[in-house]
Amino acid sequence: MDGFKLSLLAFVPFLFLAIAVEATGDELHTFIVHVQPQESHVPATADDRKAWYETFLPEDGRLLHAYHHVASGFAARLTPRELDAVSAMPGFVSAVPDQTYTLQTTHTPQFLGLGAPAPPQGKRWSSSYGSGAGAGVIVGVIDTGVFPDHPSFSDAGMPPPPAKWKGACMSPALCNNKLIGATSFVYDNNTVDEVGHGTHTAGTAAGHFVDGVSAFGLAPGTASGMAPGAHLAMYKVCPNESCASSDMLAGVDAAVADGCDVLSISLGGPSEPFYQSPLAVGTFGAMEKGVFVSMAAGNAGPNVSSVLNDAPWMLTVAASTMDRSIRTTVRLGNGLQFDGESLYQPSGSPNTFYPLSAGGAGMILPNHFLQGHTTLAEAHVLPASHVGYAAGSAIMAYINSTANPVAQILPRGTILGTTPAPAMAFFSSRGPSVQSPGILKPDITGPGVNVLAAWPFRVGPPSAPSRHPHWSPAAIKSAIMTTADITDRSGNPILDEQQAPANFFATGAGHVNPEKAADPGLVYDIAPCDYVGYLCGLYTSQQVSVIARRPVNCSAVTVIPEHQLNYPSISVTLPRAWNSTTKPVLVRRTARNVGEAPSEYYAAVDMLDETVTVRVFPRTLQFTEVNQEKDFTVVVWPAGQGGARVVQGAVRWVSETHTVRSPFSVTFA
Ligand SMILES: *[C@@H]1O[C@H](CO)[C@@H](O)[C@H](O)[C@H]1NC(C)=O
Ligand SMILES: *[C@@H]1O[C@H](CO)[C@@H](O)[C@H](O)[C@H]1NC(C)=O
Ligand SMILES: *[C@@H]1O[C@H](CO)[C@@H](O)[C@H](O)[C@H]1NC(C)=O
Ligand SMILES: *[C@@H]1O[C@H](CO)[C@@H](O)[C@H](O)[C@H]1NC(C)=O
Ligand SMILES: *[C@@H]1O[C@H](CO)[C@@H](O)[C@H](O)[C@H]1NC(C)=O
Ligand SMILES: *[C@@H]1O[C@H](CO)[C@@H](O)[C@H](O)[C@H]1NC(C)=O
Repeated sequence: MDGFKLSLLAFVPFLFLAIAVEATGDELHTFIVHVQPQESHVPATADDRKAWYETFLPEDGRLLHAYHHVASGFAARLTPRELDAVSAMPGFVSAVPDQTYTLQTTHTPQFLGLGAPAPPQGKRWSSSYGSGAGAGVIVGVIDTGVFPDHPSFSDAGMPPPPAKWKGACMSPALCNNKLIGATSFVYDNNTVDEVGHGTHTAGTAAGHFVDGVSAFGLAPGTASGMAPGAHLAMYKVCPNESCASSDMLAGVDAAVADGCDVLSISLGGPSEPFYQSPLAVGTFGAMEKGVFVSMAAGNAGPNVSSVLNDAPWMLTVAASTMDRSIRTTVRLGNGLQFDGESLYQPSGSPNTFYPLSAGGAGMILPNHFLQGHTTLAEAHVLPASHVGYAAGSAIMAYINSTANPVAQILPRGTILGTTPAPAMAFFSSRGPSVQSPGILKPDITGPGVNVLAAWPFRVGPPSAPSRHPHWSPAAIKSAIMTTADITDRSGNPILDEQQAPANFFATGAGHVNPEKAADPGLVYDIAPCDYVGYLCGLYTSQQVSVIARRPVNCSAVTVIPEHQLNYPSISVTLPRAWNSTTKPVLVRRTARNVGEAPSEYYAAVDMLDETVTVRVFPRTLQFTEVNQEKDFTVVVWPAGQGGARVVQGAVRWVSETHTVRSPFSVTFA
């Protein structure tokens, strides 16, 4: 079953949430209301704060959630007229109507032949606990709840949660030393997963990704990663296929209060400005409190600018496939064979050919053109094969060519070492970011949406001190991004679903390499206050105040353009029509030495196109001490006319022991 489980991880489904805002009227609606205390009346305790929130409301019983940690405000039921009164009160900042997000399951392949895809209940996981890797780390999962008695959540060999854990388990029978918390923010207080998504994402976080790492050449069980020893806490914010933004924000608020170190969120709504997005607002507060936030990039690919969860304080993770296939082979009556995938592999392979289009003995699921070569091993009820677009076209041509087309579906089991791997999954959402095109998104790619194995920083047996216990979330993200692999296992460029080299809007900085991430050499750090100058470049003072949870006066802040945020990747825009008076773009960065001292790094620039000239000043960085910081500037000029609209490359700092790589994207607009 091991291989089956691993292949599933390459395709962790992602909740794509479509918005449905309620109509206004005189009846009660839910609003997220952002408020900020006057300087003289800052509430001292959570009870004080809740009491202060109540003063905004016309009567008891209207408050749904009081936010304490990642938002300054509350969710409440109000009529539009009552909201007008609230808006006039001192301390009011803004109100956002609660949004009902609807889960959309996309990408069910169109099928050819007979039979229908089965619901995913046939998926199984086996538990795998190695050493104590990840001990002491608490991973909070914001999702649809968790299915009890799932083998992923056995706590064999797990120590009790660390003392900092303050969370609760609403159904104590459900929890143990692995699954230490389960809280529901939806109406029935029931933490059970009715959808399957939360169980799947939490199961992934529980430790299976470590096995995935072993598929990339590491010995099983010795991969660095948080996985097997980490504790899990589930925050149920979706009762079914609908989720309310007020509940999502409440889940993030609680996860931060409870002491989670990492938040893993595979939810996302439509692209919205950060100050309106409950996940962007909530995760900003989480980041400020030192919580590392890993978010799925979305499953709306391969369309351009489909990336979600694209705020710079999030690690935005694209989805790529692994080198394992749960293969079924389609053999046609004319002898041609095509490899596909299916989790359902009945024993005893049928020797009979079945007519295509009669019966229900099996099914062939071909991709659309845009879905290219990505195939999924799903739990079908019949012998089945999900094949790529090219194979599907060939099968169609065969059907057209003969009066009595016949086929067999042969189960082949788990095939290891398939190539190309990793490759981008067609559904993985693509950049550039709509909300902030000056930040290159997604950040990295990994098998499925969870890259928690790239969390080597607070990991270790309880007795041993952690390696980098005090790194900020931005420094950890930098380490993950600047050490990512840009080639696949065969040393070739990572390919997309059409088997063309994938660009950075698909892969981000590359494929996560957990071992290298533990020792990046240099990091690009960002302090929480740095984001304020960046946000003031995008939004008004009031909008930035919502995210910062305090009054911000952007006129009194050093405002920076997006590309000036000390991000580990670079995205700039140059004018398409330029001449000798066009000014170069200057990109400033600050690198901190977290490797050896003394050490010396040399700048190298890889650009894929001669229509852009890139220079780095100074050309060398010399560090005499650990944690020393050095500034440098990357200067970007247009250098030729009529080139591609987007040119990509990299700036690398290279020492004897490290390569610190920043992907670089130039858009001509
Ligand atoms: C859910 O829990 C809250 C807080 O404990 C309680 O006020 C509410 O009545 C509960 N709801 C249900 C349906 O049990
Ligand atoms: C999901 O649950 C909510 C709350 O009970 C309910 O109002 C809604 O109709 C449900 N939606 C679906 C799609 O079942
Ligand atoms: C993606 O792009 C295609 C072609 O441009 C379009 O037909 C399709 O609706 C888009 N899909 C989404 C999810 O926006
Ligand atoms: C098969 O025949 C159908 C209907 O005549 C046609 O639309 C389709 O393009 C053909 N497909 C191939 C691959 O030849
Ligand atoms: C914002 O800061 C500017 C510059 O310091 C100042 O002139 C202005 O009065 C401030 N605005 C508010 C509302 O405090
Ligand atoms: C150069 O281009 C700018 C616009 O990008 C234009 O305003 C300016 O007149 C041009 N100058 C010359 C010398 O062509």
